[in-house]
Amino acid sequence: MSQSPHLDQEVAPACDDVASSLSRQAVCPTGKSLESVAGILHWDPRSESVQRDQIASYDAMRQSCPLAQSPYGYTTVFGHADALRVIEDHETFSSAVSRYPSVPNGMDPPGHTPFRQLIEPYFNQAHMDAFEPDCRRIAAELVAALPRQASVELISEFAQIFALRIQCAWLGWPAALHEPLRLWTLKNQAATLSRDREAQEHVAQEFDQYIKDLLAARREAGAAAPDDITTHLLHNDSLGRPLTEEEITSILRNWTVGELGTIAASVGILAHYLAVHPDIQQHLRDNPADLPAAIDEILRIHAPLIMNRRLTTREVELAGHTLPAGTRMAVLWASANRDEAVFGDPDEFRLDRDPALNLLYGAGVHVCPGAPLARLELLAIMEALLSGTGWLALSTGQPPVKAIYPGSGFASLHVTVEPERPPT
Ligand code: HEM
Repeated sequence: MSQSPHLDQEVAPACDDVASSLSRQAVCPTGKSLESVAGILHWDPRSESVQRDQIASYDAMRQSCPLAQSPYGYTTVFGHADALRVIEDHETFSSAVSRYPSVPNGMDPPGHTPFRQLIEPYFNQAHMDAFEPDCRRIAAELVAALPRQASVELISEFAQIFALRIQCAWLGWPAALHEPLRLWTLKNQAATLSRDREAQEHVAQEFDQYIKDLLAARREAGAAAPDDITTHLLHNDSLGRPLTEEEITSILRNWTVGELGTIAASVGILAHYLAVHPDIQQHLRDNPADLPAAIDEILRIHAPLIMNRRLTTREVELAGHTLPAGTRMAVLWASANRDEAVFGDPDEFRLDRDPALNLLYGAGVHVCPGAPLARLELLAIMEALLSGTGWLALSTGQPPVKAIYPGSGFASLHVTVEPERPPT
């Protein structure tokens, strides 16, 4: 089993005695009484009050506590500068956070470097150009199939389907895998949330079996195997040797979770944003050239990926606190990207922000290699949504339901495609 960069979570370490060592009391703007350990506030990121509105809760925490400790043994980093400090110093803040191997996100340089060099070419411009027509065709088909002037639950009937179809098309996987993979994603999220190691092992093994079958079919077909990315990985010898089956499975699992979880969440967040910001929807209908910047900005405001983890390799000062070696860290993208110190009003939608400040795809040696693919896919679906519909509105009487951690975005989002912008 391995840990995906896109379904990272606060797993309680085996000897977690943080909760029992709580000492004094403090108060945070969530209105809750928070306890602190060695001066660091204590919170429960999984409490109902936080989960009711993750983004608002992280805002409240960030505004008074640069760091907070969870009962799961993690120290959460809320601010932009501190998050950057952590992710850009991979020697002090290691990504080897899991006891399970994970290629390449659970590795540190120098071991990380050759795997990173191996996967990056799959996301180069030539691959993106080759995939673009398929990507646009799938986006257009799904938009054309949306019901008109009737409510549709966009997450399960559109966003997740888009992510599944696009993932299978990109990797050369058969359509027969769409439904098993959809169910697998749900089981994987549930197992992650439950922190049930047995359930996590079980879903990981289920995924491994899909990959084993795909690889076996390609080996059997020999020269007649489809010329796709999965076959290419099987024959990739840029390490000076073929990848092991475990390495290929780990790489593909990380890509799959990136697509299925994060892209689906992004599509929901983007569609919701258009529906509740009619003037911005109108602007983007009139100025599609602004879409790339708008997509990154909307996903800065509302992160599709909540956090990733690190582990300190030595004692280190951060945000005025001394953290011992072995401290488990959670870098909260969903908070850092809304830091007032960098972005002013975090909810202000601006197309002229410095893209280098946006941590949507991370930074440092683990910066998302899939960003070119994600950007292509999100641009294709947004262009299709805007050019293929008259207007997108929230369905009346069916308010959106926010997703809970480790998910982000919306658990359900009812939207109606209208023929035109309704009069205000
Ligand atoms: C909107 C969609 C996406 C977002 C917001 C996103 C965000 C991120 C972030 C923040 C990281 C850094 C993690 C860390 O520092 O620990 C990351 C890493 C990664 N992402 Fe993505 N990602 C997206 C889509 C994708 C896609 C589509 C793929 C592949 C198909 C992908 C593959 C990866 C991999 C393999 C890593 C680990 C890289 C390494 O450790 O060197 N991502 N992603």
